[in-house]
Amino acid sequence: MPELFDSLTLRGLTLRNRIAVSPMCQYSATDGLANDWHRTHLSSLARGGAGLVTIEATGVTPEGRITPGCLGLWNDAQAEALAPIVAEIGKSGAASGIQLAHAGRKASANAPWEGDNHIPGNDPRGWQTIAPSAIAFGGDLPKIPREMTLDDIARVQQGFVDAALRANEIGLDSLMLHFAHGYLGQSFLSPHSNTRTDAYGGSAANRARFLIETLAAVRKVWPEQKPILARIGVIEFDGQDEETLGDAIDTIRSLKAEGLDLVDVSMGFSTPDADIPWGPAFLAPIAGRVRQETGLPTSTSWYISKPEQANQLIEDELVDLISLGRPMLTNPHWPYDAAQKLGVENPAWATLPTPYAHWLQRYR
Ligand code: FNR
Repeated sequence: MPELFDSLTLRGLTLRNRIAVSPMCQYSATDGLANDWHRTHLSSLARGGAGLVTIEATGVTPEGRITPGCLGLWNDAQAEALAPIVAEIGKSGAASGIQLAHAGRKASANAPWEGDNHIPGNDPRGWQTIAPSAIAFGGDLPKIPREMTLDDIARVQQGFVDAALRANEIGLDSLMLHFAHGYLGQSFLSPHSNTRTDAYGGSAANRARFLIETLAAVRKVWPEQKPILARIGVIEFDGQDEETLGDAIDTIRSLKAEGLDLVDVSMGFSTPDADIPWGPAFLAPIAGRVRQETGLPTSTSWYISKPEQANQLIEDELVDLISLGRPMLTNPHWPYDAAQKLGVENPAWATLPTPYAHWLQRYR
């Protein structure tokens, strides 16, 4: 029976345990460049003992950022700024990852603490958004996106490929493609946002095409020994859940055939009218179903905060990896605490860097 502190091997990458730091936007970059904030933030999370630390949603093109403060990886200067951070994550004993993203119709927004809404059309900080169809998300994100042409699709896919090449050059161990949360990949998948009549719209297979092509193109340039993960919104909680989940499972099977190594099971967030049953680990049973029906390793996040609960989800083989967001912000040493609570031998050495581990183990 696998446990939280067992290692996990994905292709040639072995994670020291089954704890991942979920990607978390900091909205603190200028021109997509990482700075001291990102460095301190990510290295402190990595030093806490997780197996994998995934850098926040990072725009593969300028218009693919959620906000003007999001990270980017569409130029070499952005890669250079990230390189020392990636190295520091590695030195801590964690594997590094980056979430490559395009925000689609949800782009050009203010940071959450500045309103979490679209930047008004007359404000020079904003930009024209693009999406599969010219349909606004609604609510606080009312901007109508421009429907993407086939050239736009090819350009954005090339953006994912170029960002993957840069990610490899700066030593990242894994990639996560952001195909969830109502951003571009998700909005191709969802009938809420995709009413195209060409090869990228209509049937579920057509709506999945952008995702499958993008993964396949990235897989071609990403080293064979390094894994690719994808975060996918498999459910919308909009009353159409069985159909959405069935389509998502078919999509994940196709992504697996193109070389996907793990799926992070999340929500679609494609409509402001969703009725989400928030609660402890509420997506875990869905992740378990995806795991069983696709045969692909899974992870999930959302309201998993207790070590015993995280361990149980691994033991029950619902997920292979636990993705933690807010619990890591609350306590960057969550993995050390969990190792203690779960009775791991030498918990400090199992999780923390030597200058911490030595003292914690010596004077217990
Ligand atoms: C997030 N989340 C998120 N998700 C994602 O796929 N890419 C991202 O860049 C972000 N950014 C982000 C920033 C912050 C500050 C938070 C709190 C969350 C969602 C996150 O990865 C995670 O899935 C959720 O927070 C749910 O997990 P927890 O917080 O319940 O462990």
